[in-house]
This record gives sequence, structure tokens and C-alpha cells, in this order.
Amino acid sequence: MSKKAYVRAHTNIALIKYWGKRDETDFLPMNSSLSMTLDKLYTDTMVVFDEALPQDSFYLNGEKQGEKETQKISKFLNLFREEKNTAIRARVESINHVPTAAGLASSASAFAALAGAANLALGLDLDPQRLSTFARRGSGSATRSIYGGFVEWDMGTCSDDSFAVPVDDAGWDIGMVIVAVNQKAKEVSSRIGMKRTVETSPFYPAWVESAKRDILDIKAAIAAKDFIRLGEITEANGMKMHGTMLGAEPPFSYWEPDSIVAIKIAQALRKQGIACYVTMDAGPNVKVLCRLSQAETIKQALLEHFTEDKLIITKPGKGIRELTPA
Ligand code: DP6
Repeated sequence: MSKKAYVRAHTNIALIKYWGKRDETDFLPMNSSLSMTLDKLYTDTMVVFDEALPQDSFYLNGEKQGEKETQKISKFLNLFREEKNTAIRARVESINHVPTAAGLASSASAFAALAGAANLALGLDLDPQRLSTFARRGSGSATRSIYGGFVEWDMGTCSDDSFAVPVDDAGWDIGMVIVAVNQKAKEVSSRIGMKRTVETSPFYPAWVESAKRDILDIKAAIAAKDFIRLGEITEANGMKMHGTMLGAEPPFSYWEPDSIVAIKIAQALRKQGIACYVTMDAGPNVKVLCRLSQAETIKQALLEHFTEDKLIITKPGKGIRELTPA
């Protein structure tokens, strides 16, 4: 007998970053983080559990993946199999819907979609909060992709209470312009980068302390629907995270010349009265948090340096949901 489910999950961008684990096996973070789920970037995943399958298989964008990638998926599915007390194997098919040339494929939407599909296919009936603790063990940022809008990942005290909490549906005038600076594979993965920072950067303890304050402040800004404050806290938090990497041994940075160009354009727009704030993750791409109603104006300014295909405007996205197979 086969059991299948098809689920969509959107990616998210952290406004207060997760950068560092206190437990690497369980993906427990050093600090709570807060993100915005994005409408434009998502992953659709179909999972079929079937007793007739000899082993797990994984297809990404129509291509069968090798042993290493498939093992990652198997390890993640084991969490669900253990919960269900079964050894049944699965075929996983994922499609990443990321605008071409963006280079923004994300482990957040991937593991959130897989978690959602495995949960449904095995009939586990995990509630969203519990499901987020499962998604977390695929990739930390996936914890937050279970919900839409603004989402907090509460660091918790143990594996069971380190979960996502919906904060606000972000149904106000909010958007993001993504500047896809380049799509080369990163030299330092986020997993390795955060580990090196925790272990060697003298700035790291200060980062954790200030992130604790930032999360309280940003939640207050969201409650007050204070966009300017939200943007200021976002930009400052991201910069502090990147500062910790410069203090690591050996030091590293994800920035490229074009990242700085994008940041300068956003700063110049701000001087002209357009509220827009930048944040960057473990890569050179720049995300400009803005009012959705001003996103097109910001895009026009960026077009003076970047080509159309590198610029993506998105509004806040929804949480995971089941899809009907075609
Ligand atoms: C800079 O979630 O990719 O994007 O948990 O090791 O899979 P793992 O890391 P990942 O790290 C994301 C780091 C970040 C900040 C964030 O999304 O909060």
C-alpha cells in the first residue's frame, strides 16, 4: 500500500538572524530568531511511502540525486519513520520554484515542505508547532517556514520546545526586493560558517547578547506596525551577524563588490525619504526590506546597476499547505 502527500512551503528571510548552534545534533540555536516568509520563492514536494520500495530515492527539479543528497533525505525521513514506528521507504520529488538566475534555492523551504509532506503521508497528524521541531532537524531556518508572515523561532530550552511561533501575518504594506548578486556555490556553507564563528570569534558572545535585545525590540515594532523601527532593527542585526564573521579565525565574509553597490543604493534611497533596509545571509545576495507600495521605485533605482533578471520583488508569503497533485 502506498501513502502519498504533496506540500508547498515558502522560503523565509531572517530579520533577526539565527547564527550559531548550542547543540549541533539537535539543531538548537544560540538565540531566538525572527523571519518573514516570502511569497515568490517556494518548494513543492511530493512524498510517496511504499512498502514495495527497496530504498529511498530523491528527485530534485526532475533529476535523480546522488547518494549523498539522498542520504540526507533518508536521515530526515527517519525522524518521521521513528515517530510512526515503521521502516517504510519513500520516493521524494521536489521542485524548487525560484526565479531563474536568482541562485536562491533554500534549505528552509525544502525541509519545511518535506516535513509537511512526510507528516501527512504517514498520517502522523503533528500540529504545526511540533512539525516545526521536525523541520528544524533538517535545517534550522526550516523551523520558521512552517508558518507565513512574521515568524519567531523560539530558541527554547530543549528539542521539544525549540519551535516556531507565528507573530503577525505581515498583511500590511511590507515587501522585499531581492538583489541576486550571484549564484556561485558559496565557499563557506552556513553550517560551517556559523560553527567557525561560534568557536573562534571574540565578537560572538556580544552578538548573542544583542540578538536577545533585538528580538524583543523587533516584536514591539511589529506589534506597533512601526515599519521604520522594524527596518532599522533588521539592518543593524544583520550587520552585527556579518561582523562576527570578520572576527573569526580564519576570518571570512560573504560580501562581494556588488553587495556593497546594492547596500549603497538602498542607503541613497533612504536619504531621499524611501524607507528601505538591507539584510544579507550566508551569501552575497542583498535583500531590501521595504514597503510593498515602494518596491517598484526601489527596483528602478537598482536597475541602474543590476539587470532585470537579478531583481525579484516579493510580498510576504503563507505557511505550508497541501497541494492537489496534477
Ligand atoms: C544566515 O538554516 O541554512 O540564513 O541549520 O545548519 O542548516 P543549518 O543552517 P541554515 O542557516 C541559516 C543562516 C542564516 C540566518 C537565518 O536564516 O536565520
